[in-house]
Amino acid sequence: MDSLTITQPDDCHLHVRTGSVLKSVIAHTARQFGRAIIMPNLKPPVTTVEQALAYKQEILSALPADSTFKPLMTLYLTGNTSVAEVEKVAACDAVHAFKLYPAGATTHSEQGVADIKSIYPLLASMEELGVPLLVHGEVTDQASDIFDREKIFIETILSAVTQKFPCLRIVLEHLTTLEAVQFVEAANANVAATITPQHLLFNRNRILAGGIRPHFYCLPILKREQHRLALLAAATSGNPKFFLGTDSAPHLTELKENSCGCAGCYTAYAAMELYAEIFAQADALDKLEGFASFFGADFYGLPRNTAKLILKKQPWTVPVHYGEPGQYITPLLAGETLRWQAASA
Ligand code: NCD
Ligand code: ZN
Repeated sequence: MDSLTITQPDDCHLHVRTGSVLKSVIAHTARQFGRAIIMPNLKPPVTTVEQALAYKQEILSALPADSTFKPLMTLYLTGNTSVAEVEKVAACDAVHAFKLYPAGATTHSEQGVADIKSIYPLLASMEELGVPLLVHGEVTDQASDIFDREKIFIETILSAVTQKFPCLRIVLEHLTTLEAVQFVEAANANVAATITPQHLLFNRNRILAGGIRPHFYCLPILKREQHRLALLAAATSGNPKFFLGTDSAPHLTELKENSCGCAGCYTAYAAMELYAEIFAQADALDKLEGFASFFGADFYGLPRNTAKLILKKQPWTVPVHYGEPGQYITPLLAGETLRWQAASA
């Protein structure tokens, strides 16, 4: 197949930042996606509905004039989030979920939640009001091996949460392990997951074999090949619990190519091209539309998009950087050839 037309997709996990970085990246997402679930891990984090509405305005102002792209906002859970804020989110059409960052797990998570039990009253309220909880699923204790942190989080924290709050709508974000796939498959229908392009394309050799490649470093970190294969099987299975979330996470090039490089892969510039590559390689292009355009919208209770996106087999070379001089962002696979190109129909 050399060309494929699908319903316009949604990106259910996206970082766009603020200011000049936001201006450099937002058009890349808006070119392909109808909507995106916007992550709240700014500095300072987006913790109130008022802040989310202001951030939404900033995103809308940064869009190209003719864009119909809709940012779907989320709030960052802290130890100080109140049940009243959960009620505000439930009553607000612009804010769609809360994001749980275990404190210290990833970029800008310092103000996240240190003790899961401290937020149980909030989870009870979210369960009752139908507000989704989006989860960065990694434990943070420094003694835990970085490659095991997702598995341990599921065993020691998430299992207890799903047992105590069986009707809580949960998205386990950016799955990276076979154990996570199995957990989501076995859980109730209200538990779903996103999968990134990098975790479907690469295993951990891509970061570490033959030289250290910081642009492939993200959290949760890439795992062994057996885990990639489990993720690929889940994404191409047609199971509506698994849907598209790029976790595109722009960082300035000098902060990635650094003695202590930031976590995050910049993929928004070619998100659908990367997923098309993955599904084509797996001979599963017929499963791409459900994964990219239906299951996420259905989970969030949103109407499916009506516009269309065309994916064509047409090789092109990825630029070495995006952004403004002095503020460059290196895309994942910079300088390499991608086989697919996306365009609106
Ligand atoms: C994300 C970021 O940079 O904001 N980084 C990443 O490696 N994925 C945060 C996150 O989603 O963990
Ligand atoms: Zn993320």
